[in-house]
Amino acid sequence: MFAETAAKAQEVRDVTRIERIGAHSHIRGLGLDDAIDPRAVSQGMVGQAKARRAAGVMLEMIKEGKIAGRAVLLAGQPGTGKTAIAMGLAQSLGIDTPFTVISGSEVFSLEMSKTEALTQAFRKSIGVRIQEETEIIEGEVVEIQIDRPVSGAGNKVGKLTLKSTDMETAYDLGQKMIECLSREKIQAGDIITIDKATGKINKLGRSFTRARDYDATGAQTKFVQCPEGELQKRKEVTHTVTLHEIDVMNSRSQGFLALFSGDTGEIKHEVREQINAKVAEWREEGKAQIIPGVLFIDEVHMLDIECFSYLNRALESDLAPILIMASNRGVTKIRGTSHESAHGVPMDLLDRSIIISTTPYDEEDIKRILKIRCEEEDVEMNPDALLVLTKIGVETSLRYAIQLITTANLVCQKRKGTEVTVNDVKRVYTLFLDEIRSSAYLKEYQNHFMFSESEPEVEKEAKPMDTT
Ligand SMILES: Nc1ncnc2c1ncn2[C@@H]1O[C@H](COP(=O)(O)OP(=O)(O)OP(=O)(O)O)[C@@H](O)[C@H]1O
Ligand SMILES: [Mg+2]
Repeated sequence: MFAETAAKAQEVRDVTRIERIGAHSHIRGLGLDDAIDPRAVSQGMVGQAKARRAAGVMLEMIKEGKIAGRAVLLAGQPGTGKTAIAMGLAQSLGIDTPFTVISGSEVFSLEMSKTEALTQAFRKSIGVRIQEETEIIEGEVVEIQIDRPVSGAGNKVGKLTLKSTDMETAYDLGQKMIECLSREKIQAGDIITIDKATGKINKLGRSFTRARDYDATGAQTKFVQCPEGELQKRKEVTHTVTLHEIDVMNSRSQGFLALFSGDTGEIKHEVREQINAKVAEWREEGKAQIIPGVLFIDEVHMLDIECFSYLNRALESDLAPILIMASNRGVTKIRGTSHESAHGVPMDLLDRSIIISTTPYDEEDIKRILKIRCEEEDVEMNPDALLVLTKIGVETSLRYAIQLITTANLVCQKRKGTEVTVNDVKRVYTLFLDEIRSSAYLKEYQNHFMFSESEPEVEKEAKPMDTT
């Protein structure tokens, strides 16, 4: 048991460590109160009040689960929190509501057609909640009796006696169940459930009648009542799967193992049609419920005109999720055409979308975000250093300032300091260039770059860089 908890704790720790590296790991929600008003600093979210409130309204709509096929475009300059808001929204949705994230450019790099990639993304964002009845045995353990074979080899057999308030029954145990019982450290006085189909044992707690055995119980022991009535019970369980998962499991060429590798290939149109029909049937019989989730397409301007026209049509089907897009482009060419449009998104899709715009942060907000990032990365930074970093954030960009937190902390660790000081920040500021200084440097030393590399191509390559 200890080894197991230790292993679990290890797992959890690993997971948080991996998350910590992420750019948005400090975001835990949208930070709204019950009236959908944004709190100044909450759940890792700072400022950007209007956009957060708008996202909150969307969140309510999604949670209701009735409306599908709506499109939202988050539009604003780079680094103004578009992706952060989408992540906050994802965190606020329950685990049952599917949330799929893709990046616009992703559809071009998969080994499948663009529309197939989009179809899969759409179907990954639709949940199907399936109700199922299972039989369980629930009772208080009276006695566990295990007979070891005399020779020491061979299978163990045994008996498990369970009782409810009304009855008591003995069940025969096989090798596997015995292993389960000892793994879960089940002993007399525990209340357990056994799933009849799978044999899975679940410990609910200790019986109240044992509450007086002080010595044997720790502080965390949960006491429960001995179950009433029959030992065997029917219980409703619900699973939520996505349409895509159903597709993959039913596609003969793939098999469900493809779900783990993610290498699902293209799925035949007929398979999907059949599944849609089946799901519709389940819905009518009340066995299943559709949960429209969210598909988030970041950097949506990277999609081309064919993808956009697919999106238009897909949004109008009744099995469509809520589509959230983000773009940091102004008026620009729509990929695959020579026409320009706002955010690089065609008019007809813009017309179907509601647009949430994000605005640049002021000094106070930048300071707060940097502070949150310091906490997230476990970096101690003294107030002066934070002030300098904030100034850097205002002059250059929020992202650049966030990058300097980790690097400044490394410099601090190297000199065996306990908190990051102004000098550490200055040090990394001179070591790592921000975009403005980097392009200024390129401009200034353009000639030098050309001469040091004798290849004429380099000149061509270097030029576009200094225009950005
Ligand atoms: N309101 C906010 N509260 C807390 N952190 C934020 C907020 N807005 C942005 N951030 C953080 O600042 C960084 C940059 O924001 P983000 O990546 O969301 O920008 P973006 O608008 O998606 O930019 P781009 O257009 O370049 O993709 C991220 O690490 C993000 O988590
Ligand atoms: Mg982004």
